[in-house]
Amino acid sequence: MREVIRTLISAKEIELKVKEIAGLITRDYEKLLGFNESEQPDGMTKLILVCILKGGVMFMVDLARQIPLPVAFEFMDISSYGMNSVSSGIVKIERDLDAAITDQHVILMEDIIDTGHTLNHLKNHLMAQHPASLKICALLDKQTRREVDINADYIGFVIPDYFVVGYGLDYAQRHRNLPYVGILEFKED
Ligand code: IMP
Ligand code: MG
Repeated sequence: MREVIRTLISAKEIELKVKEIAGLITRDYEKLLGFNESEQPDGMTKLILVCILKGGVMFMVDLARQIPLPVAFEFMDISSYGMNSVSSGIVKIERDLDAAITDQHVILMEDIIDTGHTLNHLKNHLMAQHPASLKICALLDKQTRREVDINADYIGFVIPDYFVVGYGLDYAQRHRNLPYVGILEFKED
């Protein structure tokens, strides 16, 4: 079996979309954070971007560079029981946040929403810590696959039900470093 990757979303399209989303986030949070470029006291309210490892890494770092506000990074790692492609709905947190998010503005960053079980679980987990606000930002959304009622506040691209790799997304830990998002197919020849 030979792997073939067909481009679905080019690096340029991703770059433009990242800028667009960063613009929306900046607009939505600059007043909320009371950001004033002339003074940045310690302990000032920050926007906390919570990256879901490992798929959300590319998206988070590219997006963060386009947001001219005080931003902090947090990382969470999770594992789903069973195969990733058959989301069981049971999500185990392997690595939790380093800092408390109580009374902070938080955006949860995901590579892709598929059935929605992962984000649903993580959202409930984070809401239990009473953040000032919690929004969800996902690069890709396979809306037709949804099994639980959860949606992102910021979405890059709604895509059909293909298995995609690149720009953070993997197949067996490979292809995350592709600068574009491609459809992965297996060919016999
Ligand atoms: P959900 O819990 O079904 O929404 O699953 C979301 C997770 O499944 C994502 O964070 C990805 O890790 C993985 N996933 C879903 N679809 C794809 C895909 O097309 N390519 C790579 N990973 C995927
Ligand atoms: Mg993932």
